[in-house]
Amino acid sequence: MRKIKIFDTTLRDGEQTPGVNYTIAQKLEIAKQLEKLGVDIIEAGFPVTSKADYQACKKIGEKITKAKVCYLARLNKNDIDCAYQATQGNPNIMIHIFIASSDIHLKHKLKMTREQLLIHIEKMVSYTKKLFNEIEFSCEDATRSDYDFIVACYQKAIDCGATTINIPDTVGYSTPDQMGTLVEYLKLNLNADKTTFSVHIHQDLGLATANSLAAIKAGCHQVECAINGLGERAGNTALEELACTLKIHGEYYQAFTDINLIEINKTSALVATYADIVPQANKAIVGKNAFLHESGIHQDGFLKSRDTYEIINPEMIGKAKHECLVLGKHSGKHAMMDWLKKNNYPTDELTVNSFYNQVKKITDYKKKLSIADLNKVINDILNVSDDSFLSDYQIIRFAVDYEGDNVIASIEIKNHDVIFKAKRTEKTPIKAIFKAINEAITFKPLLTKYHIEAINLGVDSQGMVEVNIEKDGKKAIGYGLSQDILLASIKAYINSINKIRGEINE
Ligand code: KIV
Ligand code: ZN
Repeated sequence: MRKIKIFDTTLRDGEQTPGVNYTIAQKLEIAKQLEKLGVDIIEAGFPVTSKADYQACKKIGEKITKAKVCYLARLNKNDIDCAYQATQGNPNIMIHIFIASSDIHLKHKLKMTREQLLIHIEKMVSYTKKLFNEIEFSCEDATRSDYDFIVACYQKAIDCGATTINIPDTVGYSTPDQMGTLVEYLKLNLNADKTTFSVHIHQDLGLATANSLAAIKAGCHQVECAINGLGERAGNTALEELACTLKIHGEYYQAFTDINLIEINKTSALVATYADIVPQANKAIVGKNAFLHESGIHQDGFLKSRDTYEIINPEMIGKAKHECLVLGKHSGKHAMMDWLKKNNYPTDELTVNSFYNQVKKITDYKKKLSIADLNKVINDILNVSDDSFLSDYQIIRFAVDYEGDNVIASIEIKNHDVIFKAKRTEKTPIKAIFKAINEAITFKPLLTKYHIEAINLGVDSQGMVEVNIEKDGKKAIGYGLSQDILLASIKAYINSINKIRGEINE
């Protein structure tokens, strides 16, 4: 069995995801979690790009001791010197230097001939070797480069001191067969017995994990990955996908990683929070649907034996053992009976049949069934008065008065026919309004995010407000839209409260 090194680029290529910009403290916290996860190398950033990234690289280089830390630099003296300065003389920090090798990039971007590039590689890698012990060298756009030319580039870099050669599929162009062939070709034609072979694959055709596996099969030693598959455009190979695949198919690939799978869920959630990008619901391993079963046939099999429809269990990646069956349009009687049993309701044939028919009827017009909905259905069937049924709160009216430094918010909210009122004085309007709402309905969630954005230009613009709240371990996101930004804020806050109370049955 061979160990495959995991080079994590969540903090570098992952931060190139449009819209992602971690703070220095967030980068350090993610780096610490990546170390716990067991990655071999953390690419901390690209020091020359900004003062903040330079500082973040310095901090990560100081604090991370178990994983190796790496900084990125283009193949020029200024970038390399800047990366070196960020190491503060720590000889254990490595550098990743890169330059493009495809004719498209040489002609349009670098305006260099192949001969000039080879001379430049020799000069700059030799210079880098005076500063760094470990050097990773990448031919950017390698998969669209001439094979024999990149053999010459990589050989030059190895001869001048590169310890790892990285093969990027920069534009996610390759297929698994082509990737395997390229790695085999380089292994065969390079004089590189002591060199680590690495791949860095983008996800433009959705083939990043498959290409990384093909590269492993062809003998490569290291894969560059990002948590949740973050990265430029469609992203990079998702670390969680590669690590779980090698766990399940280690025998076939004769390979393993040192990733502590149990840390995956926590790492994914941390990165999603700081990147402000939640993985798509059906994303492999870390999407919210990744372990849920909705169809009746699947639910029946799952209840008889989990392995009928589950190749990884959620506990393996550190997810709390949770309800894996979602009651919905495709659910069967076995799952309904299971839900009734788990919730201490009768499971005689008549009750199960009525519950089944009623749930199916509701799913004709309601997309997602909440726990409150399911309780309401069964309690109606059993003729029990239903305290758990929660209808939504609605704003009826509000007013904001200003008295000196103080803001006084009055609020009226309705639920069914009951009216709730409160008045609150604070220093700022949103605080006063939100606290008045808490008081009116005696519900006090933790506010974790408040975000407001104008969605068009001019004085008539509408404000879109997003509010994130937490209560008793549950989380909800609410949205509100209005030309009146105070009303948009109220709508968003009440929307999040309604969601958290009527928790979806997932
Ligand atoms: O995709 C790419 O080519 C890169 C390089 C810096 C290796 O991210
Ligand atoms: Zn990349």
